[in-house]
Amino acid sequence: MSRQKIAAGNWKMHTTVTEGKEMISSLAKNDLPSDVTVIIAPPFTHLYPCLEVADSGIQLSAQNCSDKLSGAFTGEVSAAALADMGIKYVILGHSERREYFNESNELLKNKVDTVFGQGLTPIFCCGEPLEIRKSEQQVAYVRQQLMDSLWHLSSDQMAKIIIAYEPIWAIGTGETASPEQAQEMHQSIRSLIAEKFGEETSQIIPILYGGSVKGSNAKDIFGQRDVDGGLVGGASLKVDEFVTIIRSF
Ligand code: PGA
Repeated sequence: MSRQKIAAGNWKMHTTVTEGKEMISSLAKNDLPSDVTVIIAPPFTHLYPCLEVADSGIQLSAQNCSDKLSGAFTGEVSAAALADMGIKYVILGHSERREYFNESNELLKNKVDTVFGQGLTPIFCCGEPLEIRKSEQQVAYVRQQLMDSLWHLSSDQMAKIIIAYEPIWAIGTGETASPEQAQEMHQSIRSLIAEKFGEETSQIIPILYGGSVKGSNAKDIFGQRDVDGGLVGGASLKVDEFVTIIRSF
């Protein structure tokens, strides 16, 4: 069965609004393959201005949102406000949010529910730190993240999620998981999902790889059977390189 192919760019806290708009406009000028879903996750401040310049070939995602629906939570952004603006996706559980903002599996479970409640699609990140990889406990570690934050979902909801496997030791370090390491983990994630939600659901869910994806390695990584695309940080900030990545399926 053929799954959705996705190239998602996570800009993190880079670029100004002006720069971001220019980057989206210049990305939109390229002839992008129609069978690849292209998603850009700029900072919150950029979402609305970028929506105005993104054509239908480029989707926008938030990098985070609150687990609360609304209320006195200074500085937070609600999923309802994102949905109302026309945003379709929200990245949840990026390792930087887990590490620097103490986001726990339990909090992420609530965020997943809040995002689904507003009709948005979560791009749910998981992945192990280096010491876990060294002790070969990575599958158990990722399984726990998935169990704690996603196993309460219905099969219908689960079928709508996007998963991003991002080994922390490969994020922003220049060190990429080998295509074989990525495939091994993606296959494990898919079989865990099959055990819990059934084979059919597991075959629908796109599982993206993230961690130092570049124009030069995307083809090998995306060529793996259970890798359905990438969540790209640094290389998504260079439009030409990101276009190369989008064309790497
Ligand atoms: P990177 O970041 O591509 O710069 O390693 C990936 C990510 O954090 O999503």
